[in-house]
Amino acid sequence: MRLDRILSNLPSLNRQTVRQLIASGRVQVNGVCCRDSRCDITVFDRVELDEQVVQTGKPVRYFMLNKPIGVVSATEHPDHQTVIDLLDEPDKHELHLAGRLDLNTSGLLLITNDGQWSRRVTQPVSKQAKVYWVSTEQPIEAHYADTFAEGMYFKYEDLTTLPAKLEIVATYNARLWLHEGRYHQVKRMFGHFQNKVIGLHRERVGAIELDPQLAPGQYRALTPDEIASV
Ligand code: URA
Repeated sequence: MRLDRILSNLPSLNRQTVRQLIASGRVQVNGVCCRDSRCDITVFDRVELDEQVVQTGKPVRYFMLNKPIGVVSATEHPDHQTVIDLLDEPDKHELHLAGRLDLNTSGLLLITNDGQWSRRVTQPVSKQAKVYWVSTEQPIEAHYADTFAEGMYFKYEDLTTLPAKLEIVATYNARLWLHEGRYHQVKRMFGHFQNKVIGLHRERVGAIELDPQLAPGQYRALTPDEIASV
């Protein structure tokens, strides 16, 4: 891809700014100043703008993992096995998580080394719905759906959650669509009604659905369509 196109893909830069940045010598390709907007850049080239890395020059990698309960959503942890420990990949410590799940939550976790992609997954503006299967201790009542749709005030963060959709599937089971990922969000939303969440499983992020072939702890690379869906 052309150098100017790579830089224009950054959310903060338009085409004209990019041309000026390149012409003024602020862009480096593989450590050398490049003033040619049309320079052809491959995934193996490192691109820097004002010494900030825009592209690392390493191929981008994307995985989905079926996170088991009891494994921590972190790259390192002193006491628990981490989701990264479950991967059999070279240079796996260069990977990061596109969103997290609690220790006792299972299901779809996305892992990548592409920071721009993971920001699109996690930022509420990108409208990637996260879909959870929820099991509760008490019966789920119909009026929860209205409260979730209106948004709930979280005192600690002093914010109101984005509208969420609740579909009650059985007395103790529901499917919930969220557009953000606040700390313990699902548990706190049900906790508002003194109803404890006893099982939580993420089924989907945007158009990416947890592959039913993946047993807990298994993972696979995302397909090109899944990557492009974000
Ligand atoms: N909400 C929670 O409470 N826990 C999760 O792991 C994800 C969403």
